[in-house]
Amino acid sequence: MIRSVVRGIGSALPRRIMKNSDFAGMVETSDEWIAQRTGIRQRHIAADDETTASLGEAAARAALDNAGLTPDDIDLIVLATSTPNNTFPATAVEIQNRLGMRHGFAFDMQAVCSGFVYAVTTADLYIKGGLARRVLVIGSETFSRILDWTDRSTCVLFGDGAGALVLEAEEGQGTVADRGVLAASLRSDGTHKDKLYVDGGPSTSGTVGHLKMEGREVFKHAVGMITDVIEDVFARTGVSAETLDWFVPHQANKRIIDASAKKLGIAEEKAVVTVHLHGNTSAASVPLALSTAVADGRIKKGDLVMLEAMGGGFTWGAVLIRW
Ligand code: ACO
Repeated sequence: MIRSVVRGIGSALPRRIMKNSDFAGMVETSDEWIAQRTGIRQRHIAADDETTASLGEAAARAALDNAGLTPDDIDLIVLATSTPNNTFPATAVEIQNRLGMRHGFAFDMQAVCSGFVYAVTTADLYIKGGLARRVLVIGSETFSRILDWTDRSTCVLFGDGAGALVLEAEEGQGTVADRGVLAASLRSDGTHKDKLYVDGGPSTSGTVGHLKMEGREVFKHAVGMITDVIEDVFARTGVSAETLDWFVPHQANKRIIDASAKKLGIAEEKAVVTVHLHGNTSAASVPLALSTAVADGRIKKGDLVMLEAMGGGFTWGAVLIRW
């Protein structure tokens, strides 16, 4: 049985760090409020010359270096983003061009904060279907461009950044002892579409628009949705909270991460948390957290890693990978 095995990982962050205290004089808030409610201490904010494409390219190059590969070795680029450089063409195609790739194919996926989990699942199916042997899966976002910087209930929560994985086809035994993507569970429910959305778009206002969120409503649904898909993956693989090595959740809010881990019985020390450093970087948050835990030596070859995310739509999902 073909498995999609992780061959390399990389990430990229904008140069500028914005600390909670930097909101002083912009909106009425405090380091204490932001840190207590969310766990966020700082976020990176893209300068004019830093875009979803440039950050995505930098993360892709870092992942290729880590894999010991070049763009020539890649067949497909799947970019998860809700903040593309342009309405079209897909920013994945711009990254393909920046990498000097004149072969293969590239496209964007839009599932907001769940984008990376959807993209890994999609890449896995392209590999298993035989359409690609090596795939660059990228999550890249510049949410700072769609924030209303006068709305304190949203502007303090988000940041910019990118992360990338190289997945490669490898023959496995078809058991959970294999390395690679082992199982996934994806969901969406459009009845919640107005709880977290951007109030612009080409087919409606013709503007880019700004992010709007009913934070308390999102919070209310988050833990139940996240734990449902993880329990589904546990049930289908026989993996449990005890046998799992690492829990790499979407980094929106430390309270959501803690409550989800607690409900699932996952030990606190197995949760990878980077929300204090990056804020919520939407589709980039899971690969940025993964990158951090691989770089500092926590996640090692052979470890069982559960990725999860929940976001606008609502969309939500979980992916189990043996690293
Ligand atoms: N600083 C100070 N006070 C603030 C701020 C701020 N930055 N923002 C809001 N407040 C005030 C509110 O006005 C409110 O005041 P009031 O009681 O006088 O009306 C009070 O703080 C409490 O506001 P709540 O919204 O109830 O605060 P809550 O504890 O719910 O925390 C938060 C808000 C952090 C947004 C939380 O609800 C949350 O994390 N929600 C989930 C967000 C999420 O997970 N998103 C994931 C998906 S993101 C994606 O897909 C793009």
